[in-house]
Amino acid sequence: MGSHASRRRSDRVIAIDGPAASGKSSVARELARRLGFIYVNSGGFYRAITWYLLRKNIRPEENALVSVTLDSAAFTCRVQDGESRILLDDVDPADHLRDDRVNETVSRVSRLPRVRQIVSQQLYDCAEEHDVVIEGRDIGSVVFPDTPYKFYIDASPDVRLKRRAAQGERDEIAIRDHDDVSRAVSPLVTAKDAHVIDTSHVTIEQVVNEILTQLEQKGLPSSDVHITNARAR
Ligand code: CDP
Repeated sequence: MGSHASRRRSDRVIAIDGPAASGKSSVARELARRLGFIYVNSGGFYRAITWYLLRKNIRPEENALVSVTLDSAAFTCRVQDGESRILLDDVDPADHLRDDRVNETVSRVSRLPRVRQIVSQQLYDCAEEHDVVIEGRDIGSVVFPDTPYKFYIDASPDVRLKRRAAQGERDEIAIRDHDDVSRAVSPLVTAKDAHVIDTSHVTIEQVVNEILTQLEQKGLPSSDVHITNARAR
């Protein structure tokens, strides 16, 4: 993959941002499937780096040590089954990305500028190679500000808490939300040109269809848009 941040191609980048447990992963994954685009979960990259640092017993507060460690780490991003996967020093941490310790620590790691730089570069590289649906916190606001395809997926705090609990995870989403919204670098914001969707009382299918309708109106080639195509069984 190339590594030229200046050659950002964002005509085929669909940005799906929003807070924790808002439904954006399910929506982004299904949207990518319907469009035949690659699904990229940028939170997974932040989680992978967090897992890597925890394994080396490095705390996010040890800023300089974090940078030195990450500068000598080997990052590989590969696409498998329509989704991006990140490998760190040839290890795929997929099974650990939602560990309690990662949930607790990831927001403190993701506020470090060096970490954001590394993940953003991986996203640029991926978007140079593929048409992508990328979910995260700053995809439309900071990483791909020029893409015309920006969506902000939200749900009420109550619904989000219930969804995360139903997933059986211990995850203090209120603390993460607070950290993500209030950090200095790339905080979670609604990009001013994003289309906002509240998923509290609608199905994934309805949200995906709303996004597909918007994409068609925004000029994504209609051959890419399959609004009535229900989930494959
Ligand atoms: O799945 P969930 O919404 O709970 O979180 P995630 O998307 O896996 O993101 C985990 C954490 O990574 C977030 O709480 C943010 O601190 C960070 N993140 C970020 O800073 N920027 C992104 N583009 C994506 C995630």
